Amino acid sequence: MDKEKTKIRSMFNSISHRYDFLNHFFSANVDRVWRKKTVNALEKEKVERILDVACGTLDLAVDFSKRFPDADIIGVDFAEKMLERGLKKIKGKNIFPIHADGLKLPFKDECFDAVSIAFGIRNFEDMEKGLKEFRRVLKKGGVLLILEFTPNRNPLFNFYTGYFMPSLAKLFVTNGDSYKYLHRSVKEFPDGEELKKIIEKQGFRDVEFFRLPFGISLLHRGYKE
Ligand SMILES: C[S@@+](CC[C@H](N)C(=O)[O-])C[C@H]1O[C@@H](n2cnc3c(N)ncnc32)[C@H](O)[C@@H]1O
Repeated sequence: MDKEKTKIRSMFNSISHRYDFLNHFFSANVDRVWRKKTVNALEKEKVERILDVACGTLDLAVDFSKRFPDADIIGVDFAEKMLERGLKKIKGKNIFPIHADGLKLPFKDECFDAVSIAFGIRNFEDMEKGLKEFRRVLKKGGVLLILEFTPNRNPLFNFYTGYFMPSLAKLFVTNGDSYKYLHRSVKEFPDGEELKKIIEKQGFRDVEFFRLPFGISLLHRGYKE
């Protein structure tokens, strides 16, 4: 599947004005619950710095900021229009958005207590390269959190994501095909066990995954050795 950077970036830039609305609408607001569960999975009392990669419109960063008001929350995304949409949510908060590529993070080694990525890694041109970057910037013992859709054979789910969502999205965004991309990219994404192995191969320990409400997304958690 073609996940060339410039195409992915322009796709997200083109839907940025409707991204939040469609996200909450298509998931009946359950995406908010998934992000809260991701924040809760970071079972540390105190952290200095959290990196949210592919942060989009900064929803997960905002949730981290509520739980860790004294930490620095850094959000990285390469689609500038997605970041712009998020700016109004972060006034006066401990959140710092940065326009950068998640495969080439502009940070020194071992400076984050946690790295998260929500619905982003599926879009990476090279997932293993991304995991290497996450590992590089994590402190020893730091936590990796990956929230992502998981392939699903349920015919109703496939009708919903493969037909209903792209058809309806066309009413709100000119690039309705981006929702066809969502369907195809989830179908081709590794399942929970496979993704766990891929993460372990990159040097993370105690990797486990949790099925989240609706059963269509998983949260993987692992630790840097
Ligand atoms: C489906 S959105 C998810 C946004 C947000 N994390 C959320 O939970 O709503 C995927 C985001 O990943 C970003 N993205 C994809 N590949 C990226 C990369 N290599 N570097 C930085 N951002 C990337 C896109 O620009 C987009 O904002």
